[in-house]
Amino acid sequence: MSVVIKDKTFDVFLSKGQIQHRVLDLGREISSDFNGKDLIVIGVLNGCFIFFADLCRAIDIPMVTTFIKVESYQGTESTEQVKTIFGLSENIEGKKVLIVEDIVDTGISMKELLSQLKSMNPESISVAALLFKPEAFRFNYAVDYVGFEIPNKFVVGYGLDYDGLGRNLPEIYQLRNS
Ligand code: IMP
Ligand code: MG
Repeated sequence: MSVVIKDKTFDVFLSKGQIQHRVLDLGREISSDFNGKDLIVIGVLNGCFIFFADLCRAIDIPMVTTFIKVESYQGTESTEQVKTIFGLSENIEGKKVLIVEDIVDTGISMKELLSQLKSMNPESISVAALLFKPEAFRFNYAVDYVGFEIPNKFVVGYGLDYDGLGRNLPEIYQLRNS
């Protein structure tokens, strides 16, 4: 199956079923790792919103949920500049933080977020990303929970966008080579 968004064609890459199974596994793993801990789960908007909603419902331990917003992409390219659109109102001092991202690509956005959140003195910070592009990643910090490692190609759907479009697609699609 394929979709056309603006000038580009995308082919289905991960089905609804594949995503759903993997998200349930991640939820189970996170629930057991953070059981009995003071956990705050921070979603990185906009891209995380669908993954975040599904992942949170797959976690069955008490936790606080909140959001932060950053922007780095224009079209299909990273601008390499991270803008924090809004910060946290919650106090994360002494808490176990889990950051939830749709995708870690170059890793620049997450690097910036990690340093901002570290300065707020949480007990620990872990990262969950549905997708991870190892070939594009430029750092060596840990991405603790990865849904799928994927090739270095632009993807849309399940929260991820191309110029604001495609977030509502239930599957994940990959840009077709032209
Ligand atoms: P990074 O800073 O290069 O790791 O990029 C992180 C952000 O860019 C992600 O949170 C996404 O919002 C966006 N992004 C990176 N790769 C893709 C992609 O393939 N499709 C859509 N958005 C992407
Ligand atoms: Mg994002």
